[in-house]
Amino acid sequence: MDRRELLVGGAGALLVTPVSAGTAAARSENADGFPMPAPERNLPTRLPQSDPSRTLLELGWRFHEGDIPVSEPKGHNETYMSVKAGNAPGAAAIAYDDSDWPDVRLPHDWAAAQPFVETANVSQGYRPRGIGWYRRTLRLDPGDRGKAIELHFDGIATNATIWVNGSLVAHNWSGYNSVHVDLTPFARFGDETNIIAVRVDANAKEGWWYEGAGLYRHAWLVRRAPVAIVSDGVHCDPRQAPDGRWRVPVTATLANIERGVAAVTVEATLLDPTGREIATGRTEATVPTLDRVETEVILDAGSPALWSVEKPTLHTVRTRVLRDGLAVDERRIAIGFRSVRFDADKGLFVNDAPVKLKGVCLHQDHAGVGVAIPDALLAWRLERLKAMGCNAIRMSHNAPTAELLDHCDRMGFLVMDENRIFNPAPEFLAQLEWLVRRDRNHPSIILWSVFNEEPMQGTEAGVEMVRRMSAAVRRLDHSRPVTAAMNGSFYNPANVSSVVDVMGFNYYQGDYDKFHRLNPTKPITSSEDTSAFETRGAFATDSAGHVITSYDTEAASWGGTHRDTWKEIAARPFVAGGFVWTGFDYHGEPTPHDWPTISSFFGILDLCGFPKTAFDIHSAHWIDDRPVVAIAPHWTWRGREGEPIKVFVASNAETVELRLNGRDLGVQQVDRIMGNEWTVPYAPGRIEARAMRGGKVVAVAVHETAGAPVALRLTPARSVMAGDDEDAQPITIHAVDARGRHVPTANLMTRFTIEGATLLGVGNGDPNSHESEQFAGPAGTRSLFNGLAQMILRAGNGRGRITVRATAEGLKPATLAIDRADIAPRPQIAPSPPAVMQVRDWQRSAAFAERPDPALAPADGDNNSWDVIRSGQPTPAEARSVWRLYRARVTPWKRIAAEGGVIRFAALGGRAELWIDGTRVAVKDAAATGPMRATIAPGAGPRTIVLLVEAPAAQPSGILGPVGIAPR
Ligand code: GAL
Repeated sequence: MDRRELLVGGAGALLVTPVSAGTAAARSENADGFPMPAPERNLPTRLPQSDPSRTLLELGWRFHEGDIPVSEPKGHNETYMSVKAGNAPGAAAIAYDDSDWPDVRLPHDWAAAQPFVETANVSQGYRPRGIGWYRRTLRLDPGDRGKAIELHFDGIATNATIWVNGSLVAHNWSGYNSVHVDLTPFARFGDETNIIAVRVDANAKEGWWYEGAGLYRHAWLVRRAPVAIVSDGVHCDPRQAPDGRWRVPVTATLANIERGVAAVTVEATLLDPTGREIATGRTEATVPTLDRVETEVILDAGSPALWSVEKPTLHTVRTRVLRDGLAVDERRIAIGFRSVRFDADKGLFVNDAPVKLKGVCLHQDHAGVGVAIPDALLAWRLERLKAMGCNAIRMSHNAPTAELLDHCDRMGFLVMDENRIFNPAPEFLAQLEWLVRRDRNHPSIILWSVFNEEPMQGTEAGVEMVRRMSAAVRRLDHSRPVTAAMNGSFYNPANVSSVVDVMGFNYYQGDYDKFHRLNPTKPITSSEDTSAFETRGAFATDSAGHVITSYDTEAASWGGTHRDTWKEIAARPFVAGGFVWTGFDYHGEPTPHDWPTISSFFGILDLCGFPKTAFDIHSAHWIDDRPVVAIAPHWTWRGREGEPIKVFVASNAETVELRLNGRDLGVQQVDRIMGNEWTVPYAPGRIEARAMRGGKVVAVAVHETAGAPVALRLTPARSVMAGDDEDAQPITIHAVDARGRHVPTANLMTRFTIEGATLLGVGNGDPNSHESEQFAGPAGTRSLFNGLAQMILRAGNGRGRITVRATAEGLKPATLAIDRADIAPRPQIAPSPPAVMQVRDWQRSAAFAERPDPALAPADGDNNSWDVIRSGQPTPAEARSVWRLYRARVTPWKRIAAEGGVIRFAALGGRAELWIDGTRVAVKDAAATGPMRATIAPGAGPRTIVLLVEAPAAQPSGILGPVGIAPR
């Protein structure tokens, strides 16, 4: 039996044990009170590679926290040069010395390692974000010459400026959309490496929640055939024809970087879930040079298996570009066949069957890792939501990580995909268009939301803005309705509800009926609701201590408790469903408190994904296909013997019987929405809720009073990890009593060490904890909070074993072994840190018949008499022998400045003298091409390198190969 399915845990300690009819016995052996599913022995689902021309570019990055000011150029020449292509100054410069910057691996959220600081922004979780720089050296294989080369950042928090080889290639003002940089015109190949520099301004805010800082999503290098499908260039749009058959129009956008027009064939093939071909089609296309063309193939899918929440069947559309019969490019897009319809009276229909949206709003944030959530952890979070019957996610309030949507497709979630910035000006409209273009193939997405709670929602300007934004969405996808999440102004003469397809209510539940009455043809959903507060594992509110009870009694004034809110939504068929604010806690927005509280209380699960009572409440509301029963609170209340304790039971059965130590405390008719309550004088022992249907016990929840903690325990989500250097999972740390029962009241400090994996971060779900969430090495600490703490591990490489050891004072230590399976890592572009400092750019004088003075230099203000050349670029032959000067100004890397270095010319043509800072340091006597080297003395600051070359007649001369300065 799959325990994960059956254990719907919350409230610090509970158990749900379906009992098959006839075997009404309680499972007392499971009464250890541990609220998380038992570990499984399975590997994470690796998402299929949709674009084989993309390779991860996540290793070999160097990071600098803080800004790096650019010094003012000196004189006219320096100013003139500083604004030229390839010559970006400061840390964007090719030659900038980043050798003492630490290496980081992407995804990377530097704010997650920051301390909590009272003067930092409350909404962003009191973590200073600041400005940071990333640099990476990239070696491109000479075999990649001629390919279309792109750099993809899936998300950068927040404002980013990107340079390649000293040229500014992109600025991006959005923490949530991806940045695609066409590297092709800037690319260098072989040993002449490329330098990518990114300045990230994370002081910029786009939200009122923790947004992280840095290159926090995946980064890719794309290398494609010169005639190929552009990025996000395939649109598959399954439609059911009136005859009932499904057709898939497949549109592919192609680009051509060759010098001539290209004739290609585009082939689209529909594959069923087993990979069998169902339909295929081809079309011919002529792609103009440096331009784009759109092609269409319509596939007849017949009557395929449908995609639904219960059975999310995915098909694949494989699109290929063929040249001379050979496939030169390919994309694989997962698609699902499903229809979606919002009815103004009856709500949502998927495949013509009614579906109530049992949804949650999510921010991308998790304990320990911040916004840089590994793919496997994203999937784990969705599994937790699925386990409570959740079927819908609102990506609040921004474009999510692409992989999150892939997991939603695979797991059967319905998604409201939301745009971040409400603004139809071209830059922001482009962000919305990017969102639709990237996401429109996902069967999970059923709604586009153009905004969340905008003060202009009730104005004429707001209406005009939404009209333009909806039109932009429809140009790219007219299969899905557009919504906007409104929080008021519903009845203004001008308000955006008149121009969206589905009205989205944030809160304002009291207006559902009135709005429906006044707008009887407008479909409605709650786009956001609830905003209730709970501290996980706490059952009394302590306002001074910023602790909030988990009995589902406290909520924001604009929201409602979990139960009251769902009651309103469930009662109205015309409300398509709801999206609870929020599925998980997140850093920042510590409402209703502030400092020292640093994270939210809204989550159904806490920041670590540990369930609160709200989890049980929603399980009872939302799960129809299996019995649910859960008890709050836990039953470990030493010192409160005889005192009345409120016992809350959530269930979806018909009746529930409560027993304490075998004594019957009464049977109640289940109130599936509001739950059932008993007041029970506390006596240690065993409290048991027996859920019944038709007079038979169908599920039992038990808590037993735990004794003092005697040992630590480590419980992973999975007992095996992929040894692919990428798989990640949470490990729960908790304490048990002498009988192995989870102790829900333990708040001990724990220490741990890890081998065979990387410790990405830690947490415990306490919104008031200021303990560090990240550690530099393989060891960390974290106190248990109401019995639980969590560490997040990333598996190392190859088959092996991960070992975690945890200790706490006075307790028996715990050791956990996790197998690391032999799974090949996804390919990564190898890091290529430069061993030598390259000298690439030179000024070259005119030719002289006589040996010129090596001190000769262009006059300041003279931009024209000297050529600018690159190392390796030969000076053409002259009929007679001539003299020339080559000048470069370089600032040696710090190590060279400190210890001295060696400058090496790989190939010099002609006789030559090398002068550094006015001193001759080397001579090359032979005219034939050959190398040259000289030592460079230690010393800080810029150096002037002058090469005096006497070119032999009729021969190319000068700097014929690379020039490098190596540390000594
Ligand atoms: C809403 C808002 C959310 C969050 C929530 C807290 O108004 O859309 O982002 O701030 O309130 O209750």
